Amino acid sequence: MQVHQAVASRRSIRAFLPEPVPGETIRRVLALAARAPSGGNLQPWHIDVLAGEALDALKATMQHQLKNGVEETPAYAVYPPSLPSPWRDRRFQVGEAMYARLGIPREDKAARMRWFANNYAFFGAPMALFCSVDRRMGPPQWADCGMYLQTVMLLLREEGLDSCPQECWAHYPDTVGRALALPAERMLFTGMAIGRADPAHPVNALETARAPLDETVRFSGV
Ligand SMILES: Cc1cc2nc3c(=O)[nH]c(=O)nc-3n(C[C@H](O)[C@H](O)[C@H](O)COP(=O)(O)O)c2cc1C
Repeated sequence: MQVHQAVASRRSIRAFLPEPVPGETIRRVLALAARAPSGGNLQPWHIDVLAGEALDALKATMQHQLKNGVEETPAYAVYPPSLPSPWRDRRFQVGEAMYARLGIPREDKAARMRWFANNYAFFGAPMALFCSVDRRMGPPQWADCGMYLQTVMLLLREEGLDSCPQECWAHYPDTVGRALALPAERMLFTGMAIGRADPAHPVNALETARAPLDETVRFSGV
């Protein structure tokens, strides 16, 4: 697989087949992903990988939390408090496109919430990872984590695997922190579901749009 094929074929997958991901595969991917660049070579990412009983235990705990309406103070604000255009429109569009695939109308808030809760079962994925970062790190190191995670997702494509990054877990930092025994100085950034996409599930047919190049790039002297 060439890099452009990995980039073009990576999508956020929201329904997985149950077949397990071999331990050696994820070890190979994470060993190579560590070649991702980081300012000052800090390598600020901390990664926890879960599968099998460890994953089942976290899923069971989350089910319990959701059932009991437990709410936690989020690790951070996932979006700015008021999201102006064009970001607001892009977010709205992707949500509408996804729920259209699922046949869930805007008015059916309960069904939308039920679907969203699938996040907390990793959409049926047999493996998950979490990325956390020392609280002393700032925006540049958080950007480093993003580069690292995209490298992971592209390498997963080369292994024939799919993924979905999941910052929804930032809403349950205490639950995740306990499950992973994260030290107090460590802040949860995101989770990620990992496995093989279920090709039959309609949600996986979602192809998200991108802004035209000239909307996000300014060329000078090019
Ligand atoms: C850091 C990060 C966190 C995300 N968190 C979630 C999430 O919690 N749940 C979810 O369904 N998708 C999540 N996404 C997926 C985005 O919605 C998705 O990347 C975007 O809509 C573009 O679609 P694509 O990944 O299929 O290209 C996240 C993506 C990123 C990069």
